[in-house]
Amino acid sequence: MINIALPKGRLGEKVYAMFEKAGFPCPALLENSRKLIFDNAEAGVRYFWVKPSDVAIYVERGAADVGVCGKDILLEYRPEVYELLDLNVGKCRMAVAAPEGFRDNPNRTLRVATKFSRIARDYYASRGRDIDIIHLNGSIEIAPILGLSDVIVDIVETGTTLRENHLEVIETIVPISARLIANKSGFKFKTEQIERLVKEMGKEVEQP
Ligand code: PRP
Repeated sequence: MINIALPKGRLGEKVYAMFEKAGFPCPALLENSRKLIFDNAEAGVRYFWVKPSDVAIYVERGAADVGVCGKDILLEYRPEVYELLDLNVGKCRMAVAAPEGFRDNPNRTLRVATKFSRIARDYYASRGRDIDIIHLNGSIEIAPILGLSDVIVDIVETGTTLRENHLEVIETIVPISARLIANKSGFKFKTEQIERLVKEMGKEVEQP
């Protein structure tokens, strides 16, 4: 049995459809219930729905053999997992955004509000720019509007949230998409099954 952690929500449903087409179905999963764990012994899979940002924790600690999580989480938390496949879904980008017309003053420490402190720190360190990180847990876009920060580092998908708050992307840091990840020792014990899963899932990935 392969234990698979799926991110709850729209992305998870899309990814489950890929698993299903790849030959790892579990029809009970689509029944509208509050259940979180689903088995299909015949297909050799057990799925669980977890909060998207928790998938890597389940996989890193071996509660799941494999899982699907965003590249943003891998870059931010650097979990000890294998990254096996880019699923090319859940596509967005990590970007720096600022109020329309913002001009950076290089003589001043830049105040950066973000949920992704490490990504922001690494990015500005690579550019030799002094920053002050203001770590927030959500609704990052309001920080520069209220004068809490100069810029934000956040995920941009459609750009609607930025537009509606009169912010604009000033730099793209890195493109993001969902990745298939695996627990390191689980991979050793279940190499054959996991490699087959990766191979079959690879066929379901739509190339850009
Ligand atoms: C994410 C991100 C942006 C928004 C971007 O927020 O932090 O706020 O989506 O999407 P868009 O470009 O399509 O508008 P999320 O919904 O995860 O909420 P939170 O960060 O405020 O918790």
